[in-house]
Amino acid sequence: MNTLGTLELKDQVALITGGTAGIGLEAAKLFVREGATVVISGRNTERGKAAAASIPEGPGSVRFIAADLADLESVGELAEQAGPVDILVNNASALPVAATVEQSVAGFEQLFDTNVRGPYFLTASLVPAMLAKGSGSIVNVTTMAASMGVPGSSGYAATKAALGSFTRTWAAEFGPSGVRVNSVSPGPTITEGVLVEWGDGVAELGKGLPLRRTAEPLEIAEAILFLASPRSSFVTGATLAADGGATAV
Ligand SMILES: NC(=O)c1ccc[n+]([C@@H]2O[C@H](COP(=O)([O-])OP(=O)(O)OC[C@H]3O[C@@H](n4cnc5c(N)ncnc54)[C@H](OP(=O)(O)O)[C@@H]3O)[C@@H](O)[C@H]2O)c1
Repeated sequence: MNTLGTLELKDQVALITGGTAGIGLEAAKLFVREGATVVISGRNTERGKAAAASIPEGPGSVRFIAADLADLESVGELAEQAGPVDILVNNASALPVAATVEQSVAGFEQLFDTNVRGPYFLTASLVPAMLAKGSGSIVNVTTMAASMGVPGSSGYAATKAALGSFTRTWAAEFGPSGVRVNSVSPGPTITEGVLVEWGDGVAELGKGLPLRRTAEPLEIAEAILFLASPRSSFVTGATLAADGGATAV
């Protein structure tokens, strides 16, 4: 709720991919608190249902749809079942780390299928309704590693650089029809997924930031809410660095 006592996302329908854990789940909680009708997606149905049940009801609502972003057929079904939407948060991601000389081809393809091809065709399926309506907000969740050299992140960082590029192109393509597109670029954030993939490396990255710590998922979700909501109504094509100052130094 803003200072005038109104809900920030009243009457808005939102899809948050990867909304069943970590940053996406915190964003879903904020969106429901602000009155949105929210769909969260992920591959694991049990996890998704538990995540939806964990979100306090009202003033908005939440439901889960199972979908694998690495699978184009599944992406198409997700768009059909979740749409039309006013807000799309492209948040789901494969997060594996690998030294370039050890990167498997299958792992490389998984990264690009999930983080680049999936959000690209999901957006292409959902944006026509936004364009026809003359409004909408798309938030792409990228990473600080897309604009700095972080060892072990070559494939992952490149996928997020592509997503950042989509942000700028889509802002130019969709802006004349009133649809805004922005990125949130997080720094190291303590989530289940990142701990599995990066282990202690996340805390180490946090120590090197100007703020000298890692983020809580809620701190990134707040940035997503800002870009999704009308509070950022004149912001498009921008990248909001929620990275503890990493890319400023
Ligand atoms: N945590 C960090 O330090 C950090 C830093 C920079 C950027 N980010 C970005 O922030 C976003 C969220 O990260 P997080 O740390 O919150 O991740 P997380 O805790 O691992 O959650 C990932 C979410 O994405 C879903 N997901 C993963 N692969 C999927 C696929 N192929 N199809 C559909 N859904 C899939 C997961 O559900 P299922 O497993 O059930 O599919 C889960 O809901 C990502 O875009 C990530 O790149 C995170």
